[in-house]
Amino acid sequence: MNHSAPSNMDSHSEQTPGFGRRSFLRGSLGVLASGSLLPSSLLAAKSFSDGSEELKVGLIGCGGRGSGASVQALRADKGTKLVAMADAFSDRLERSLKYLLQTNVKDRIQVPKEHRFTGFDGYKKVLELVDVVILTSPPHFRPEHLAAAVAAGKHIFCEKPVAVDAPGVRSVFESCRKAKEKGLSLVSGLCWRYHNGMRATFDKIHEGAIGEIRTIQATYNTSGLWHRGFKKEWSEMENMVRNWIYYTWLSGDHIAEQHIHSLDKIAWAMKDEYPVRVTASGGRQVRTDPKYGNVYDHFNTVYEFKNGVKGFASCRQWNGAANDVSDHVYGTEGICHIFQHQIVGKHPWKFKGKHNSMYQAEHDALFASIRKGDPINNGDYMVKSTLMAIMGRMAAYTGKVISWDDAWNSKERLGPETYEWGPFKPKPVARPGITRFF
Ligand SMILES: NC(=O)c1ccc[n+]([C@@H]2O[C@H](COP(=O)([O-])OP(=O)(O)OC[C@H]3O[C@@H](n4cnc5c(N)ncnc54)[C@H](O)[C@@H]3O)[C@@H](O)[C@H]2O)c1
Repeated sequence: MNHSAPSNMDSHSEQTPGFGRRSFLRGSLGVLASGSLLPSSLLAAKSFSDGSEELKVGLIGCGGRGSGASVQALRADKGTKLVAMADAFSDRLERSLKYLLQTNVKDRIQVPKEHRFTGFDGYKKVLELVDVVILTSPPHFRPEHLAAAVAAGKHIFCEKPVAVDAPGVRSVFESCRKAKEKGLSLVSGLCWRYHNGMRATFDKIHEGAIGEIRTIQATYNTSGLWHRGFKKEWSEMENMVRNWIYYTWLSGDHIAEQHIHSLDKIAWAMKDEYPVRVTASGGRQVRTDPKYGNVYDHFNTVYEFKNGVKGFASCRQWNGAANDVSDHVYGTEGICHIFQHQIVGKHPWKFKGKHNSMYQAEHDALFASIRKGDPINNGDYMVKSTLMAIMGRMAAYTGKVISWDDAWNSKERLGPETYEWGPFKPKPVARPGITRFF
């Protein structure tokens, strides 16, 4: 594959989420109409545009987010049914199903026993049964799941982050390109891009309401997250996958798993330009017990952009410390407090519009696009914001300055070559100056 880093090509605004889709569709449908032969892989996007046809939905990764996203998918379109589910573990799948059968969309949850799949390969069976798939497993598996979903011609809701390493990012980049070629809708779980107040706020920044951007501060300081416990009867692999957030190979570390929302907003403020390099520090100050795997509990990053703008981003997961999740963009004519949807300075402004549920809005957009036959493709920012997070982690783990191109071309693949329920030792906790960049 071409390893030249696509730093700023294809940048697009969320208001036109299909970046270039119209010209693509004109091109591809034109060829179809003229009767030219196309490979069968390009003929995959089935039409649901008359609104009457049932849309079969499948869920891969039946945890908190996947269960919520399933409800949102069914609420988005009355013609949808959840017909198949896959999870690594049957108890997780059954728990999710039980929850779904208590919601107000329970009548359209129709997942018989023979449509419930477990293990690492269960996702393949789901893809045989559905039109739309929700990808909400731990991020490590996303590149494989996404590639298979696109190959099978499915429309996709794809949670963030989309990979944990550069080979995964490059694979997802390729899958997104193929999804566009096939006219498949691909909506990203970077949910703030679907929030009315955020959209209006970033529009204002882009219109110049704070003048030229000088610097951006993004903070994601929260408490610790869940731990699901270890059991002796579970293999090392099972203990790890059940507690996936604590293993870099599974989650990407919390800079990717959680802080990506802040990093994506930095890029959004920069009109989807991505940084040229990053310097970082980080470590494990309080979450030191071995049960917390090999992830850090704090990161501080300085992202540098081509035009000299710097984005200062920090995140931590510490219990008993002050929490702060906020983003601020400082310009030559004012400051934008992103979460307040407010600008102070020469052109004061405050969002007065209606607030919406961004999680619901993602699915409303996805299903409307499928019905209209006008595919959305959020691939560009979901790939690049994932790489932005990974490059921050690389800089913190190694202590080196990491350029966008270094990160894009990195050869380091995290995790085992094959997945089996057996022994598996994760890498030791990274030590800056000692841990090497590959
Ligand atoms: N956009 C948001 O605001 C938001 C919020 C929460 C989570 N997320 C993202 O959603 C994803 C899932 O997070 P969650 O909170 O639901 O976690 P979770 O642990 O509750 O759910 C993940 C599920 O995937 C299952 N799983 C593990 N390996 C699998 C495999 N190989 N194939 C199929 N299933 C597998 C797990 O058993 C688990 O049930 C993550 O990428 C997370 O970052 C996004």
